[in-house]
Amino acid sequence: MLERTVLEENLMLSAYVLKERLGGRKPAVGLVLGSGLNPLGNEIENAAYVPYAEIPRMKTSTAESHVGRFVCGTLGGKEVLCMQGRLHGYEGNNAQEVAYPVWLMERMGVEAIITTNAAGAVNESYEVGDFCMMADQINFTGRNPIAAADPANLSDRFFSMTDAFDEGLRAIAREVAQEENVRLQEGVYLGLLGPSFETPAEIRMFRGWGADTVAMSVCEEVIAARHVGLKMLGISLVSNMAAGIEGASPTGIEVLEVAKMREGDFKRLVTGIVARM
Ligand code: HPA
Repeated sequence: MLERTVLEENLMLSAYVLKERLGGRKPAVGLVLGSGLNPLGNEIENAAYVPYAEIPRMKTSTAESHVGRFVCGTLGGKEVLCMQGRLHGYEGNNAQEVAYPVWLMERMGVEAIITTNAAGAVNESYEVGDFCMMADQINFTGRNPIAAADPANLSDRFFSMTDAFDEGLRAIAREVAQEENVRLQEGVYLGLLGPSFETPAEIRMFRGWGADTVAMSVCEEVIAARHVGLKMLGISLVSNMAAGIEGASPTGIEVLEVAKMREGDFKRLVTGIVARM
C-alpha cells in the first residue's frame, strides 16, 4: 500500500495529463461501466478518448469486454467522464489501484458517480435481466483502499459509510425506471475479490447476511468515493442467478450474453438518470 503522500503526487501527475487530454471539458458526473455494459460509452457525444495506458501512474483494464479508456463528453445533456471498463482486484490490482480512477475523477471535478456492474442474484425473487440498484453494500473483498500507513495527520481515516449510496440519486433512478418501464430492484450488494465464482454454500451464507446480489467489483470504488465526499449511485444488471440458486452455476459467457440483451434498457435507464442529475 502506498503512503498517502506518494498517492497524492501520483494523482497530481495523472490529473495533469488527463486534464490536458480533455481539452477544457468540465465533467460533472462520473460513470463506471462494468462487464458487458461498455457499449454505453459509445453513445457519448463530442467525446475525447483517453486510454488508461496513456495516463501515468494508473493501471489499465485487462478483463474481457472492458475497453480500458476514459470517454469524456455529453450524455443526457450533461458532461460526463466515463470509465469504459474498470479495474478489478482479481486482475492483480491492490485496493488503492482499483480505487485510483475514482480519486482521479474527483480531481477532474466530478461530484457524483454512477457505478455499474453485472451481478449474480442471491435473492430468489430477482430475475435474470433485472436491474438492481444498490441500497447498501457489504465489502467482503477483505480489502479497503483507505488502509495505508501514513505518518501525517490522517484525521479522516475513520469516516462514515452509513449513507454509502445517495438517497437523492436513488429517488431519481426510481422515477426514471418507472417512466422508462424498466424493472429496477433495490437491494444489498455484496462485493468479493473473485475471480472464482462462489460456492453454493457461500451464497447461502451471503443470503443469511442480507445480500441480494453479488459480484467482483464496486465496493472499493464506493469506499474511495465516500472518503472524498462524492455521491454514489450503484446499478447492477442481474446477469445470472448466483451459484446454487435454482441450480445455477454461473459462467462468464452468460454474463456478457445477458448484458447484450439488456443493452437498450440499460442505456435508457442510465442516460435518463444522468439527464436529471
Ligand atoms: N458472482 C460473482 N460475480 C459475478 C456474478 C456472480 O454470480 N455474476 C456476475 N458477476
